[in-house]
Amino acid sequence: MKNFISTQDWSKSDLQDILDYAKELKVNKFQYNLKNKSVALLFFNPSMRTRTSFEIGIQEMGGLAVVLHPGKDAWPIEFKLNEVMDGETEEHIIEVAKVLSSYCDLIAIRAFPKFRNLEDDLSDNVINSFAKYASVPVVNMETITHPCQELAHILTMQEELGDLSGKDYLLTWTYHPKPLNTAVANSSILIASKFGMNVKLLCPSKDYLLHDSYTNQAKENCKVNGASFEVTHDISQGYKDADIVYAKSWGSLNYYGNPQEEKLIRDQYKHFIVDEEKMAMTNNAKFSHCLPLRRNIKATDGVMDSDYCVAIQEAENRMHVQKSLLTKLLKEEK
Ligand code: CP
Repeated sequence: MKNFISTQDWSKSDLQDILDYAKELKVNKFQYNLKNKSVALLFFNPSMRTRTSFEIGIQEMGGLAVVLHPGKDAWPIEFKLNEVMDGETEEHIIEVAKVLSSYCDLIAIRAFPKFRNLEDDLSDNVINSFAKYASVPVVNMETITHPCQELAHILTMQEELGDLSGKDYLLTWTYHPKPLNTAVANSSILIASKFGMNVKLLCPSKDYLLHDSYTNQAKENCKVNGASFEVTHDISQGYKDADIVYAKSWGSLNYYGNPQEEKLIRDQYKHFIVDEEKMAMTNNAKFSHCLPLRRNIKATDGVMDSDYCVAIQEAENRMHVQKSLLTKLLKEEK
């Protein structure tokens, strides 16, 4: 059984198959590949795009989506093994995964890092526990990576730029008033490197480096593809000659679980906003962001309203790639 937890578990050619079929679904959207199938969508955190695109996409393929928010409209779940469950949790992941597997053909999970303990968050225990105890494929709707966003991002870049090998890709950190999780940033460098781009990571200081486990995977992907991987803290150096600029904010891993102290550091870097002046240093780059985005904090109105901003196209593509992905996962189950 194949899960979709990280794109690193999938070959580039399998990912390209998903993208190619997504392009077909974009033209002919009503393909009843999920007829008589049901998908549980479990949200431990809020969502706008992910929930909407999964629910509508599943409906467009003739399937049924059941949306659950554990701890709100479904029982709170215990993930620790051998726990004496005398606290808030009402049932254990072992039963939840098995029961949902008996009702549904796929289980999709959104469970963000909790920002209390880095090692706990890196273990990605919620989705990995579902994968361990479920007997149907499990799909990552954003945990410590966001692989569905990766697919939509690459599809959008292929639509705009064709073959991505050798393109210069910039992931830039941006300011945000809160320390956000690193999922999309981790995902950005994983997928850009997998598709053969020269990857640059621009962040204000060493405090904002991504975790080695993701940077090392991205470096290895670059090596396999004969591409480069570079980290810079210099804004001009980052933007210079970029073909693609992708922006994301994240909290410092060096201040994990310590948001007050981290804020004092982060507040010095508001000038990392993506603006027209910075975009002018690029090779007429496309700009994108996973959304949601705070205008005039992460990127200016001028950038968001420009012809080179493809964030809305990327958000639309979430729907097409996810439909293609679910189709492939179910085909592989047969
Ligand atoms: N990009 C994304 O996953 O959006 P939501 O958080 O709204 O689902």
